[in-house]
Amino acid sequence: MSGGGAASALGLDGERPPTKTRTAVSNRGYRWRCGEVLMTRITLKGKVALVTGAGAGIGRAIAQTLGRAGAVVGVLDCDRKLGNETVRLMTKDRSEAVFIRADVSNVQQIKRSVTSLLRRFGRIDILVNNVGVAHVGSALQTSEADWNRMVSINLSAAFHCLRLVLPDMLKRRHGSIVNISSVYGLCGGADHCAYTATKHGMVGLTRSVAMDFAREGIRCNCVCPGTTDTPMARWGWKIWGGGDIDKARRRLEEKIPIGRVAQPEEIAQAVLFLASDASSYCTGAILAVDGGWTCA
Ligand SMILES: NC(=O)c1ccc[n+]([C@@H]2O[C@H](COP(=O)([O-])OP(=O)(O)OC[C@H]3O[C@@H](n4cnc5c(N)ncnc54)[C@H](O)[C@@H]3O)[C@@H](O)[C@H]2O)c1
Repeated sequence: MSGGGAASALGLDGERPPTKTRTAVSNRGYRWRCGEVLMTRITLKGKVALVTGAGAGIGRAIAQTLGRAGAVVGVLDCDRKLGNETVRLMTKDRSEAVFIRADVSNVQQIKRSVTSLLRRFGRIDILVNNVGVAHVGSALQTSEADWNRMVSINLSAAFHCLRLVLPDMLKRRHGSIVNISSVYGLCGGADHCAYTATKHGMVGLTRSVAMDFAREGIRCNCVCPGTTDTPMARWGWKIWGGGDIDKARRRLEEKIPIGRVAQPEEIAQAVLFLASDASSYCTGAILAVDGGWTCA
């Protein structure tokens, strides 16, 4: 262990070094090392975390990152194969993880899974409301069924999950909730009516929960990722590029100040900071991790 004193009080003790570092290259050829610095310093030893939508993309990277920092992680996903694969990767990485199958559009399934995790580990210290799905269309192109599905998965699921973990967090007067919104939670997204509305909702939910429970030891913060290389993003690029994913991605990267899309690990680093005691004075924070997209 290194870094005692004040660093230790903030949970910044030295921990196991990361097993892997990913390199990303911008469209101008700059190389970036992703997700290295904080992972070696923040510890979540003894904490139990629940990450929704952790079977792929950003959710998987968050689960892996929290696991490497020492947390026991509940990997919640509706896809058994994907969820089990996340657990397998984490176990290989010497992290402790358990898969929980649930479709978050079903409130009963959410209740069952959160309760089972609470029963098994006796607590949930960190909740990451990551699950989200995309939908392309203006208000007129969004059916009532599409709208209801988007609201239930992208927004209501977070509301139900936090209502289930809050009583236990309040009893212990300690807990960290991190909601995953999007740059479309900060500005309008053309052709993304339901997605944009739900992502703005996540920002409002974050601020409201932060204010209501700030004096009771609960922090609630929000990460707004820019375009990140995940199965969801690739699905969008395929539509946008008329089947040519690489062309769509290159066109998009020209518009991002940093000149490239994010790697999931880079979003996970921001979540790790907000989930941990290193961000002990942050609540209600809305953190854009977007390569400069929203400052343009
Ligand atoms: N990828 C991006 O560019 C981007 C940008 C901004 C914000 N986000 C947000 O980040 C979050 C994660 O996105 P991603 O790109 O990693 O998505 P993804 O589609 O790559 O992965 C989502 C995971 O959620 C699971 N899932 C989907 N519906 C579910 C349901 N009903 N119940 C339980 N699990 C379900 C899927 O099986 C999958 O494992 C989402 O909230 C998304 O809106 C993503």
